[in-house]
Amino acid sequence: MSKDYTYVITRKEKLAESIYLMDIKAPRVAAHCYPGQFVILKIDEKGERIPLTICDYDRDNGIVTIVFQALGHSTKLMAEYEVGEAFRDFTGPLGKKSELIDMPREELSKKKVLFVAGGVGAAPVYPQVKWMKENGYEPDCIIGARSKDFVILEDQIRQYANNLYITTDDGSYGMKGNVNDAIRHLVQEKGKHYDIVVAIGPMIMMKFVSLLTKELNIKTIVSMNPIMVDGTGMCGACRLTVGNEIKFACVDGPEFDGHLVNFDEAMKRLSMYKTKEGKKILREKE
Ligand code: NAD
Ligand code: FES
Repeated sequence: MSKDYTYVITRKEKLAESIYLMDIKAPRVAAHCYPGQFVILKIDEKGERIPLTICDYDRDNGIVTIVFQALGHSTKLMAEYEVGEAFRDFTGPLGKKSELIDMPREELSKKKVLFVAGGVGAAPVYPQVKWMKENGYEPDCIIGARSKDFVILEDQIRQYANNLYITTDDGSYGMKGNVNDAIRHLVQEKGKHYDIVVAIGPMIMMKFVSLLTKELNIKTIVSMNPIMVDGTGMCGACRLTVGNEIKFACVDGPEFDGHLVNFDEAMKRLSMYKTKEGKKILREKE
């Protein structure tokens, strides 16, 4: 592993089985990034491009925090890197900043926001919750995970959330059930009112949260994570249908109106690119 590359790892933590947090020295990205945006990392010259949402940033020290799941070949290789070693490319910030950040302050101050983080989705939710609290808003947050061992960034989010609710599929921690059970419980049983839901997690979760919030009539923002290659709108890999329009997650998003996203098509494309033929198409796009 080369230590001559630019983007040095300054901290590494294992948050859960196969889930890692890394601080990367990347002053230019740290100076310009906002919650909601992402970077594309390349381990070395031959490495594939790995899109990662930004979990935190420290502008003064030029540090960007990323969280990733070591599932495929490249992310498993990434997980073997240690503090002091470095990655070749760390391109960003890419995509648009969170819609909430660009909303007029007067408008946002009248909105009650509920963040819904599914599994590793807690990583991109964290900087948004933090930004809201630091700017005088009081968002609530739900973290849903498979079991207690997969609840990540709980203490960090608790610091900034007005109320934090935890759900686990197996009931090993917090409420038993998935994030939708928690939304129903809060809205229908406890009578809580929310104007905006921001849901980030696996696509299937975002699909079902959006179906529920449509029924509850709550505006919903989702952060889409399709396959990405160039991250600049040129290759077409991240194409989505939103309403009747074609959008590219890397430049038009990654946030979209959850009530308009065609999730079934997005999930079909995601699984298509996981096949042998799909991987070949992706290599050709690079
Ligand atoms: P997971 O499968 O363990 O699910 C996490 C939680 O989401 C569950 O505990 C449950 O509460 C909720 N959930 C899942 N399916 C649901 C359904 N059908 N209805 C209602 N709620 C449901 O999550 P994981 O393994 O941490 O997720 C990994 C996936 O998340 C990867 O595919 C990764 O690419 C994606 N991800 C997305 C983003 C993003 O920006 N959207 C960020 C990080 C990770
Ligand atoms: Fe979005 Fe290529 S990754 S168009």
